[in-house]
Amino acid sequence: MKGKNGLKTVYFKEIDSTNDYVKIRRGEGKDLLAVAKKQTGGRGTKGRSFQSEKGGVYLSLLRFYEDFPAREAFKIMAGAATAVCEVLEDCGLSPVIKWPNDIHVNGKKICGILIENAFGLDKVTSSVVGIGLNVYNELDEELAFIATTIKRETGKRFSVHKLAKKLARLLYRETDLCAYQKRLGYMGGAATLLLGDERIPATLVSVDEEGNLLALAGGELRRFAAAEVSLRV
Ligand code: BTN
Repeated sequence: MKGKNGLKTVYFKEIDSTNDYVKIRRGEGKDLLAVAKKQTGGRGTKGRSFQSEKGGVYLSLLRFYEDFPAREAFKIMAGAATAVCEVLEDCGLSPVIKWPNDIHVNGKKICGILIENAFGLDKVTSSVVGIGLNVYNELDEELAFIATTIKRETGKRFSVHKLAKKLARLLYRETDLCAYQKRLGYMGGAATLLLGDERIPATLVSVDEEGNLLALAGGELRRFAAAEVSLRV
């Protein structure tokens, strides 16, 4: 089915993972949006699973690029995080980005983003932006300690369909890195960085244009890539 903007969109009542679905269709060479009401095998970053019960937005946008320098790949992540924040702000919330790709409201995770890019030489040839946004889905007891939903925060039940459509539209905008920086949370605060078996106490400073975290650790300013560390705030 084609939406108003001509983007081919496939809707699922249930699927294992929308990211996996659009990746299978990468060979067709066309942009594609997959939206599911529920995922049975939702995937998160660093090989984790992502709980995806009915009542959340679970979508993946497969997008092709003509000329997207690989060194700017972080813009894809930043654009997605900013889009999610704007959608949440329209719901009356004040979200922050927990570097690099989680969105928090009142100290709890409300959305996770999984980006899976394909590269050719020094270019990004296509990207899969997977977004899992908690709208009114039930969270199990353990998850409820660290995660929240739009319903829990606002008391209102927003339409999953409308939120998904709004998000998909915003994902096509040019990325404004300042809009990402402005919404970064926890900067200036104490945190722990997990680097392999090491736990590094640090003070978060900022995020550079390539998406690396700058933090004061052991008396020096250090740079960490998102792929090498996990951040605990
Ligand atoms: C994370 O928090 O680690 C990232 C979670 C990303 C979840 C979304 S839901 C839609 C898409 N399909 C998946 O299997 N994962 C992403």
